[in-house]
Amino acid sequence: MSAEAAAVSTDTGGASAPSHVAIIMDGNGRWAQQHGVSRSKGHRKGADAVREAIEGAVENGVEFLTLYAFSTENWNRPEDEVRDLMGLLRMYLKKEVRTLAKEGVRLQVIGRRDALSDDIRQMIEDAERRTEHNRRLTLIIALSYGSREELTLAAQNLAQRVAAGEINASDIDEKTFSAALYTNKLPDPDLIIRTSGEQRLSNFLMWQAAYSEFLFLPTLWPDFTRQIFAEAVEEFKNRDRRYGARP
Ligand code: FPP
Repeated sequence: MSAEAAAVSTDTGGASAPSHVAIIMDGNGRWAQQHGVSRSKGHRKGADAVREAIEGAVENGVEFLTLYAFSTENWNRPEDEVRDLMGLLRMYLKKEVRTLAKEGVRLQVIGRRDALSDDIRQMIEDAERRTEHNRRLTLIIALSYGSREELTLAAQNLAQRVAAGEINASDIDEKTFSAALYTNKLPDPDLIIRTSGEQRLSNFLMWQAAYSEFLFLPTLWPDFTRQIFAEAVEEFKNRDRRYGARP
């Protein structure tokens, strides 16, 4: 929803469940350390927790679930860890997509696709095509995603359209800007959860988070459960959202 639409929203909070929940899945490394296992094993457990989040979203009537799986900055991690994460992603796309398709989950990926390897890009396109008519839940995976990059690319795209005479500079407003983002057509997140006790946004959905509620949980991501998801939804229902308006 644009800030404009949000400002006139009559939903002043309470009662309703979030339509869109976004999660910064943090703490795989610390979980691994605490359990005396490799970081790679921590990420594998993290991938298992993704299922918990999906079930939690479905059980609580959430329509959109965005998961921050790999940031533009994550490319700077050691080569073997990047390889592990890409391997996990390959496995996930190969194994889980059938289940998602059966469950009525639509899969979409946001982020810089040209940074990904050809086979992963192909798998993503296939998965998106295969699940495009599903409506029970839309699962958005943020992959090679960075909010600053997304905003910069949107600005470039709009500048090119002005230079080509397709639009006037004065046509650029919140709506056209929003439409130039990866999240075009997706509603803004109502609730953003970050696990592992860290309290920052880390280049995630900065434009879209303008009126999101935030919830920082001490749980390390591999320990995340559908029960925790349900509790987060309950907490959200108690928040008073005013979108800058007076009560
Ligand atoms: C943060 O933990 C997590 C990541 C950088 C990767 C998230 C990936 C997954 C949960 C698994 C793969 C996902 C899918 C959708 C298949 P961290 O390594 O930064 O943990 P730390 O801060 O404790 O070191």
